[in-house]
Amino acid sequence: MVRLVFPLLLVLAVPAWAEEFVFYPKILNTTTGLPASPGQFVSAEKCAYCHPLQYEQWKGSMHANALADPLFQAVWRESSRETGGRTDRFCAGCHAPVGALTEQVWIRESGQIVIDPRADEGVTCDFCHSVVSVKLLEKGGNPGNSGLAVEPEGAKQGPYADAHSTFHATAYSDVHTRSEFCGACHNVFHPANNTAIARTYEEWKGSEYARAGIQCQDCHMVPPEVAARVADTMEKAVRTGLTSVFDTERTPFFDHDFTGANAAVTTLLNQWTRANEARLRLQSAARLELVVPDTVAPSRVLEVGVRVENARAGHNLPTSMTELREMWLEVTVRDLGKDGQVVFQSGGLGEGRRLDPKARRFGAQAMDADGRPTWKPWRIARIVRDTSIPPRGAVTERFEISLPPGAKGPFEVVARLLYRSLPQGVADAYLGRPGWKVPLVEMAATRAEVGVAGE
Ligand code: HEC
Ligand code: HEC
Ligand code: HEC
Ligand code: HEC
Ligand code: HEC
Repeated sequence: MVRLVFPLLLVLAVPAWAEEFVFYPKILNTTTGLPASPGQFVSAEKCAYCHPLQYEQWKGSMHANALADPLFQAVWRESSRETGGRTDRFCAGCHAPVGALTEQVWIRESGQIVIDPRADEGVTCDFCHSVVSVKLLEKGGNPGNSGLAVEPEGAKQGPYADAHSTFHATAYSDVHTRSEFCGACHNVFHPANNTAIARTYEEWKGSEYARAGIQCQDCHMVPPEVAARVADTMEKAVRTGLTSVFDTERTPFFDHDFTGANAAVTTLLNQWTRANEARLRLQSAARLELVVPDTVAPSRVLEVGVRVENARAGHNLPTSMTELREMWLEVTVRDLGKDGQVVFQSGGLGEGRRLDPKARRFGAQAMDADGRPTWKPWRIARIVRDTSIPPRGAVTERFEISLPPGAKGPFEVVARLLYRSLPQGVADAYLGRPGWKVPLVEMAATRAEVGVAGE
């Protein structure tokens, strides 16, 4: 039986807040309801004295870099400018939660980010381990928008019932072993119009993984190859490791690198190991299959089907801010009778490495209030289309290819599933790094040959 008990369970009403981005302190809050002071949070550098392993893993993660992230900062500044600063704390609620809790974070008109140095560690140790409960939002009963209750200077909440430390009090927390904890930040909705901007938690909740009790932690707090095994066997991996420098070896044990699919910004942050782990996760996620006839007459239409299966992601593929992410199929047909001349391609990169607008892309398409396409979270008013693939689901994309006059055959068909964390145009406009190419990850590839048939 899956236990669904949260200490201090709160059900919040989502008010008709209309013009304001009311976020903190309505949703993310301390247990007392009073702003925290920055001095109440201990820096990760201090935790590192006794938890060096956890620290090393966390330090390179997108959690540690949630505020330092140059893409986030550029986009955050723009949202601040456009909304008169109303999104400063809204965005900080997940990207710099200590800053939101201490109310010590805002963006000056000059674009300068002001934050107390004790609050600038992104999603830091002492934030996560001071969470005492998850607040379920009234709409849908799901966690979201950083709905967490935090007890600053309280016991460090963790997965063990019998941990002892002279430095801090400890407490067993069921919350930390469950997806709802992660879902509080990995389920994002627009605070004014309620549109779901990212719904990773909800996608997971409806999946076979959730029914089998496989939590986010079981895939994202273990190495990629272990996560792949968890997905294949539907069984949690039980690992052992050192919890502190005091030789406290424990089972179960969880890693803190939290890699996902970000093989782009991680390289800008010089986190090459993380970038590589993100690649491995992306490469484990999908299965591709080509459906082609054995033969085709060179003057006819070649029908190609490509089946894309979400084999190992515990949520949709792709997930989270898929308005921004790019995952698509590249299909290339070559005429082997004519030196491999390309007779058809879909999903190629054009000038400025821009993705062909006609590419078969997976993910959400969003519009702003005026009906213009947008990926900017604060502008999103509705999602018009979502072609992300549900967990364990599959879609088949069909291509009807008119072979050009003079084609000879046989033909080679190559399908590749590709991923980029952001479009090249967004990188060019926001990152101020001329010439930097957004890394492209080949998630899966397959090929087939089609012979020549008589007319
Ligand atoms: C995003 C939230 C988050 C952050 C940031 C975080 N942790 Fe954790 N930590 C967890 C969760 C969740 C678990 C328990 C996982 C489980 O048991 O399912 C955990 C487990 C632990 C444990 C138990 C041993 C282990 O590794 O499994 C220790 C000790 C720990 N964390 C210390 C730290 C330290 C020190 C930092 C910063 C360097 C840190 N944590 C950062 C969420 C976090
Ligand atoms: C409820 C939590 C939450 C809030 C609020 C939030 N974000 Fe995020 N944001 C996330 C998560 C989680 C990710 C990472 C998702 C992923 O890796 O796919 C993310 C990723 C991003 C990224 C992509 C970063 C990258 O490295 O690829 C940008 C840009 C971003 N957020 C901007 C914003 C802005 C601007 C706001 C405020 C208008 C905001 N976010 C508010 C949770 C949040
Ligand atoms: C002086 C050493 C020391 C420092 C500094 C320290 N810890 Fe610990 N911590 C320990 C020891 C020892 C344990 C017990 C380990 C065990 O029993 O497996 C522990 C246990 C934990 C646990 C597990 C609690 C549970 O009940 O499951 C968490 C979480 C944790 N620490 C987080 C932190 C965080 C966050 C910081 C920084 C704010 C920190 N620790 C700083 C020594 C320390
Ligand atoms: C069965 C294993 C599994 C489980 C369970 C799982 N994930 Fe993932 N996750 C993956 C894989 C594989 C990827 C890489 C492919 C992708 O992007 O979806 C991934 C990617 C991600 C990404 C990066 C998405 C992007 O494109 O930027 C985030 C964020 C994420 N997961 C969060 C979560 C959260 C939160 C949960 C729990 C609600 C969760 N995951 C549960 C396997 C899992
Ligand atoms: C306080 C909010 C918060 C909590 C709690 C939280 N996350 Fe995150 N997480 C974020 C933000 C913000 C980012 C993205 C940072 C960025 O890209 O700038 C992120 C990034 C990630 C990524 C990296 C995605 C990528 O594309 O590489 C993974 C994986 C992830 N989180 C998993 C988890 C899991 C698992 C948990 C629960 C144990 C969790 N998160 C809890 C806010 C949170």
